Amino acid sequence: MAAGQRRGVTVAGVNPESAVDPKVYLNGRYLPLSEACVPVMDRGFLFGDGVYEVIPAYGGRLFRLHEHLERLEASLQAIGMAPPLAIDAWPARLTPLIEPFDGADCSVYLQITRGVAPYRDHLPSAGLTPTVFAMGSAIPTPNPTLFETGARAVTTEDLRWGRCDIKAITLLAAVMARLEANEKGGLEAILIRDGFATEGAASNLFVVRDGRLITPPKSRLLLPGITRDLVLELARLHDLPYAEEAIPLDYLRQADEVWLTSSTKEVLPVTRLDDQTIGNASPGPRFRQMRQHYATYKERIRRGEVV
Ligand code: PDD
Repeated sequence: MAAGQRRGVTVAGVNPESAVDPKVYLNGRYLPLSEACVPVMDRGFLFGDGVYEVIPAYGGRLFRLHEHLERLEASLQAIGMAPPLAIDAWPARLTPLIEPFDGADCSVYLQITRGVAPYRDHLPSAGLTPTVFAMGSAIPTPNPTLFETGARAVTTEDLRWGRCDIKAITLLAAVMARLEANEKGGLEAILIRDGFATEGAASNLFVVRDGRLITPPKSRLLLPGITRDLVLELARLHDLPYAEEAIPLDYLRQADEVWLTSSTKEVLPVTRLDDQTIGNASPGPRFRQMRQHYATYKERIRRGEVV
């Protein structure tokens, strides 16, 4: 079996068309994925003590890189870590990882952990050197029928902690939510806390009621998504009414449209929620408008007109 393939699944980080064992970045060096190793005493491995970013690239250009790096710095600051590199030093480190994709849609996964510990203790020892890892991955083109029919999502209790605004690598609750969604035939889990829908397990949430877009306001209970911000920006630009308001579960169920947004999903319509349908069970008019605006924006990124 070829490197990068496991039981018929393409391992993340491998673009099957361009590289079987792609170069990844680890602590200042580029090396084949198969040779990139981190010691078991790394605090990311022992404690999930680290943060990450997923940065899409279109036409060989990293999308909203500055915003992603600012969010990375905010996550690092929140966990008491100094940034290992200045913001303007990252582009040169990350760009080589997208070059093998020849302009096709791809993303960079960037992870920083607190480093390799001399012994296991929750309290980090002073003076650790952070572990910095980054790799490129193909963004699989979504099945086009998904945009015709919409996806199924399931609601589940938000079991995560109180700092969901930090993009922490500690993702067990999100993994459990996705497993539950998957078992029920859902593509994503929408998380419910105290009767309110916060976001998806790995996406932000929008609903449309009477033509108005609504997404929960930024708080410690959700990740401040870069795609979410772009969708709001596009709504402003194109005069689509919107509001940042809490979304009670009943309101979600009665929505005309439900969307999920993320760097890899972009804007995804949800037409089935648990055992009910949303709206008239197909992606709604606001979704079709936003998808068009998003596609146009991506095209402008490819041409280098916007970031
Ligand atoms: N996840 N909320 C959560 C909990 C997320 O994990 C993500 C992204 C988002 C959307 O953020 P953005 O628009 O910046 O991608 C919201 C990434 C893609 C992941 O974990 O793979």
